[in-house]
Amino acid sequence: MHVRVHPSLKNAEEFALAEDLPEDLDMKSFAVLLVAASAALISGCGKDGGGGGDSIDPAAQAEASKIYMQRCTTCHGPNGGGDGPGAADLNPKPRNLSDATWQSSVDDAYIEKIIKLGGAAVGKSAAMPPNPDLATNEPVVKALRAKVRSLKK
Ligand code: HEC
Repeated sequence: MHVRVHPSLKNAEEFALAEDLPEDLDMKSFAVLLVAASAALISGCGKDGGGGGDSIDPAAQAEASKIYMQRCTTCHGPNGGGDGPGAADLNPKPRNLSDATWQSSVDDAYIEKIIKLGGAAVGKSAAMPPNPDLATNEPVVKALRAKVRSLKK
């Protein structure tokens, strides 16, 4: 099969090979724009639609609620108040996850990191345990982070 290359494509290739040409830069930014545009398209067409690219999978959400009750309430309490039965012996105390000031002082990535890797990984008390089984389970980690966010008062 014979492929005919359009002359302008050939030129573009030469520009890309040449160093420090403004055309080269233009092509790079065009490529970046293309990538951004397709990313926007893909997230816009996500199965949940209109979720802003961060929608929580319902199954993962159910799993996260279960995990919160099983693993987190011991220390943080059912409503995140830091008043679980395991809290008494701890110093520092488990964070009051419902505290609005704390909530606005941390970003989602931080919350997801402490859930996966534990307190020690973010310079906090090692009494806040890691959850290694969730390290590769992004949907459930995101849902747990959303659960933590939902505790805000
Ligand atoms: C054994 C008790 C214990 C368990 C179980 C526990 N935590 Fe914690 N958690 C702590 C303690 C103690 C801190 C406070 C660490 C500090 O202030 O140094 C903390 C802090 C946190 C913080 C806030 C970190 C900060 O910036 O202050 C988040 C978020 C958190 N835990 C989420 C969770 C979630 C979600 C679970 C369940 C998957 C969980 N924790 C299970 C004890 C626990």
